[in-house]
Amino acid sequence: MDGWVLLCETDAARAGPHRVVVDGEGLVAWLAADGSPRVFADRCPHRDARLSAGYVEDGHLVCPFHLWAFDESGHYVGPDGVPDPQCAVPCFPARTQDGAIWVRIAPAPATSG
Ligand code: FES
Repeated sequence: MDGWVLLCETDAARAGPHRVVVDGEGLVAWLAADGSPRVFADRCPHRDARLSAGYVEDGHLVCPFHLWAFDESGHYVGPDGVPDPQCAVPCFPARTQDGAIWVRIAPAPATSG
């Protein structure tokens, strides 16, 4: 799987949001309602708390500090259920193979100047 990085065993994310550090970047792996893996930056956009300290509820990853919730695509959806299209957590392509979660870390976007 060219470009894919082994992140963790799937069972680790099945137990709840699971923090892994890859190349100095904190990531959180969790499982969506259909059991497919999700990998987000482990940083709440509200106040930079670790989302891995949170929990999964109704297919959303919930930050434990002020209960902001994010859907399976990383978009803010709460805590009041009102989405904000301007607010999202960076998410990375993820897949499972042989009982493990793999992630593709996208290169940083090019900057000009
Ligand atoms: S730090 Fe996550 S909701 Fe406030």
